[in-house]
Amino acid sequence: MRKTIALAHGDGIGPEVVNEGKKILDLIAQYTDYDFNFVETPLGGDVWKRTGNNLPENSFNQMKESDAILFGAIGLPDIPQGIAESAIMKMRQGLNLYVNLRPVKLYEPLYDICPLKPEFYADGIDITIVRENTESVYAQIGGIINADTAVNTMVYTRKAVERLLDYGFDYATRMGHTEIISVDKANVLACSRFWREIFAEKGKKFPKLKQTNFYVDAFCQWLIRSPSTIQTVVTENMFGDIISDEAAYLIGSLGMAASGNINPNSVSLYEPIHGSAPDIAGQNIANPIGAVLSIKLMVEESFKDRVLGTQIENAVIDALWEGRTLDIYPRKGSEVKDPEIKKYKKCTTQEMGTLIAEKLKTKLKS
Ligand code: IPM
Ligand code: MG
Repeated sequence: MRKTIALAHGDGIGPEVVNEGKKILDLIAQYTDYDFNFVETPLGGDVWKRTGNNLPENSFNQMKESDAILFGAIGLPDIPQGIAESAIMKMRQGLNLYVNLRPVKLYEPLYDICPLKPEFYADGIDITIVRENTESVYAQIGGIINADTAVNTMVYTRKAVERLLDYGFDYATRMGHTEIISVDKANVLACSRFWREIFAEKGKKFPKLKQTNFYVDAFCQWLIRSPSTIQTVVTENMFGDIISDEAAYLIGSLGMAASGNINPNSVSLYEPIHGSAPDIAGQNIANPIGAVLSIKLMVEESFKDRVLGTQIENAVIDALWEGRTLDIYPRKGSEVKDPEIKKYKKCTTQEMGTLIAEKLKTKLKS
């Protein structure tokens, strides 16, 4: 199976983690029927500094023609805020990547660094946030109007809400989930009341699926109080942005979290959710697992290959029993949860990628 994959390294730690992702893809090509054709699609702050454009037309066109996109991160501290980041909105809106799929799973080897007390996650954490990815305040309607006033307008169209909820209900069903939670702020926002009505309408077709509404403030609490009970979560763009960072910390680090910016009928883009982290860029200490797990999502969602997806995930889990990057290295006091805590090797970005690749190799060979 020949697949063209656009590599969008971006800024900060983006290139470092994408390189580790490519290591995994190269290994897959070596041991399976996949044959990957990689195309480089530069974007972000560095490119903007050189060309005045954060997403060159050529990169965008190459992305459009590929089978999937692996994206690192963008954003630099020495350019005005938002300049590089707006390339993300251009891709999400321009490629109609209307679902942002953000799974948050606590793996057993990382129980020791989950910030909650054990009784709060005794039944595990396996949450998927299905975030709307094209509208809300991200539609960029508004601006700084004068010295005293700035405006951002939240907008939701029926089409955007419906297609997101269709995906969310389908996702919950295919994962065998028993409950779907919709997060909004219907006590204040018209957009949320609109959303809630459509959620109820769509839900009628899924009588077996328990349907629950949460206000976003209460949900942020629920995420800490009862994460083991949460399965599929559907929510609007900005709430999804915020709660996915909160949720990611429950699994040890933002560096662990992967995402898929998905258009179910066309090319999709996969990225770790951590951002460019310029403070640690170039030091070979970033966690590449968010990028590797983004490849898991890529093969599952774009190539419909759940077997390979599970193999990648299991390789990550196997690797975590042996080595860890700094962000997920046991903290002082972790001995309470795991008396053998000192056994883990402290890994650089590249060592972590290689360790996962070794574990995956044994699975692909057998
Ligand atoms: C994310 C990021 C982006 C967002 C930023 C970088 C524009 O935080 O992917 O979650 O707000 O969506
Ligand atoms: Mg975010």
